[in-house]
Amino acid sequence: MNDRIYIEGGHQLKGSISIQGSKNAALPMMAASLLHEGVSVLKGCPRIADVFCMEEILRNLGAVTWWEDHDLYMDCTNATKWSVPFLFTGKMRSSVILLGALLARNGKGSLGYPGGCVIGKRPIDLHLLVLRNLGAVITEEEGILTAECSKMKGTVVSFPKKSVGATQQGILGAVLADGKTVLENCAREPEIVWLCRYLRSMGAKIHGDGTGKIKIHGVGRLNGGCMQVPPDRIVAGTYICAAAITRSRITLENFPDGELDSFLEVYRKMGGQYKGNSGKLIVDGENVQSPAPMLKTGAYPEFPTDLQSPVMAVLTTVKGRSCICENVFEDRFKAAQQMVKMGADIRIQGRKALVYGGKELHGTTVKAWELRGGAALILGGLAAGGVTILDGYSYVQRGYEHICQDLNMLGAAVKRMQE
Ligand code: UD1
Repeated sequence: MNDRIYIEGGHQLKGSISIQGSKNAALPMMAASLLHEGVSVLKGCPRIADVFCMEEILRNLGAVTWWEDHDLYMDCTNATKWSVPFLFTGKMRSSVILLGALLARNGKGSLGYPGGCVIGKRPIDLHLLVLRNLGAVITEEEGILTAECSKMKGTVVSFPKKSVGATQQGILGAVLADGKTVLENCAREPEIVWLCRYLRSMGAKIHGDGTGKIKIHGVGRLNGGCMQVPPDRIVAGTYICAAAITRSRITLENFPDGELDSFLEVYRKMGGQYKGNSGKLIVDGENVQSPAPMLKTGAYPEFPTDLQSPVMAVLTTVKGRSCICENVFEDRFKAAQQMVKMGADIRIQGRKALVYGGKELHGTTVKAWELRGGAALILGGLAAGGVTILDGYSYVQRGYEHICQDLNMLGAAVKRMQE
């Protein structure tokens, strides 16, 4: 049972850890690397399961990849294949963004219908909308999506709903298209801005990223990319929650300044303190004691859905009634049922979770069903009396490079299960 970890609760945390590179920034940057017929490098790339999966996909398409410590080299000179086997796409839903890159690179792309996290329906209609507008003809047969277009053409697309992935899809499809593309009602997440910075460093002409309207002038070719992957704001938020749930003071190095403001605002209202700048944040969770009467997740710059379950774990330890409203994904409360097993009082009403906090948590066996929910259960284990056994640790490894080592360095007692 190697997919288990043990968490012995009740340890205070202290000390300093460095935040890993961002998963959600690295994955689209890897897809963007396909657009240059040569070598591109991502420095400080996280060595996590989802990145390895995307690397395997690139290799399958004909790329040669290698690592030098945390720097990922991708030679896409011969990445001329256009079909991504279902084996990979079934594992990672975000692989759908490859479709735009494959079309731009090879005029054709096909992939198995994407899988990924178990957090409710995750449609891809907006991805298909933007690619069709750019001129792609897309068909679906027996779970395989095939898109074809010898040369995509600039267009105007207004997304009916904000989507991070579909915005990235549109950008990847448009950078090498003929003429000008305008994308409206775009998502504004920092990971979109990082993708555009990376593409600009390769020679792309993009304006307006970080706003709702992105303008792209297609260029004939792109140069090789070389960029530092930014720190992972969700990992940083998770570790702030670790300090909050154990009422501890820790320091985060390589902190993503300015990318977690809405989260820090909630943390501050709960009684958490923090100070710092220039990539270093000292967080003091000792006085975390106030519930969150109404916390709503939303598209950036609103509260990130990826930190909803970690904050829920913290709120189970705070006396009083909190209410969390999950507006981004339906059915993203799977971790709540597991927290209830640990003694928490959480009642789910559709998209709302009511948390009656302050009940004592106790160690038991819980199951991770998805990445962030799994991380939240580890946090619950830090606060629980006795030992928590987490099954499904591999979900957590999709996004956290070394959460066990990091927490242990801060004084926690988290162990992999021995055979
Ligand atoms: C990305 C992140 C994920 C994060 C999410 C929201 C990556 C690899 N993943 O996911 O960690 O939780 O943003 O911040 O970067 N939708 C549609 N049709 C579509 C696409 C999306 O209806 O074609 C809906 C989704 O079901 C969801 C909402 O739009 O309700 C937002 O999803 P989206 O922003 O696309 O999330 P992802 O890009 O999949």
